[in-house]
Amino acid sequence: MAGLLHGRRALVTGAAGGIGAAVVEAFRQAGAEVVGVDLRADGDVRSCDVTDEAEVEATVETVGPVDDVVHAAGVVSTGDVATLPLAEFRRVLDVNLVGSFLVARAAVRRVRDDGTVTLVASQGGLRGGAGWGAYCASKFGVIGLTESLAQEAAPRGVRVNAVCPGSIDTGMSRRVAVELAARRGTSPDAVQEAYRAGIPAGRLGTPEDVAGVCVFLASPLASFVAGAALVVDGAELS
Ligand SMILES: NC(=O)c1ccc[n+]([C@@H]2O[C@H](COP(=O)([O-])OP(=O)(O)OC[C@H]3O[C@@H](n4cnc5c(N)ncnc54)[C@H](O)[C@@H]3O)[C@@H](O)[C@H]2O)c1
Repeated sequence: MAGLLHGRRALVTGAAGGIGAAVVEAFRQAGAEVVGVDLRADGDVRSCDVTDEAEVEATVETVGPVDDVVHAAGVVSTGDVATLPLAEFRRVLDVNLVGSFLVARAAVRRVRDDGTVTLVASQGGLRGGAGWGAYCASKFGVIGLTESLAQEAAPRGVRVNAVCPGSIDTGMSRRVAVELAARRGTSPDAVQEAYRAGIPAGRLGTPEDVAGVCVFLASPLASFVAGAALVVDGAELS
């Protein structure tokens, strides 16, 4: 990957999280200059709440011209629709879908003409699942947003894509394993083992597995890839 993004400048959201931090690192290894943002500032990661319109606009303005934006900030939520509180549904939609809209809108207005915008969706944006109603609704929305914006931006040479990770070993998936284990009366390890058993590749994904695809999408290797929802899941969904 060395040199693939040489001379480019990128903005990455969710940069303090598992996938976002790996994207920052992978972009740097590929030669890009990267600014990372997250809910809370941490080291060289700047503070930005992606649900706050004014903060997103101000952040993108302050960061200045960029070639590539990767939006990895997000939250997860589990629970059956029949008992899901409206406030929780709204919270998930607000961070995952409204946040994607705010970041993508600000990004597409400002990226340079051969720029890219990559939204981290999920395999849950392509297939629903019992207990995942809020999360899946938000990620299906991200893919609809990606496909529409991709068509609007393509005439300018800007490529907009989504990546759809499967089960990736991060703080998010470990927190879910703890939550589901408590609900099912089993252990977090047993929950993760069940995930693993459903993945033909025989392992959970790593944040680096997803980050590499984000580098590819920003690079000239993906020059005709636009409006795609690229699945990164070790064949789980297929
Ligand atoms: N881990 C998985 O298995 C998996 C699978 C599919 C999709 N995803 C998606 O990948 C993305 C990254 O997830 P991850 O696994 O790295 O999780 P993570 O929890 O490790 O990281 C998510 C980051 O987003 C940040 N964030 C949350 N709300 C924010 C807000 N309002 N403003 C700014 N930042 C905010 C968090 O602070 C955190 O650093 C998410 O969109 C997630 O839905 C993850």
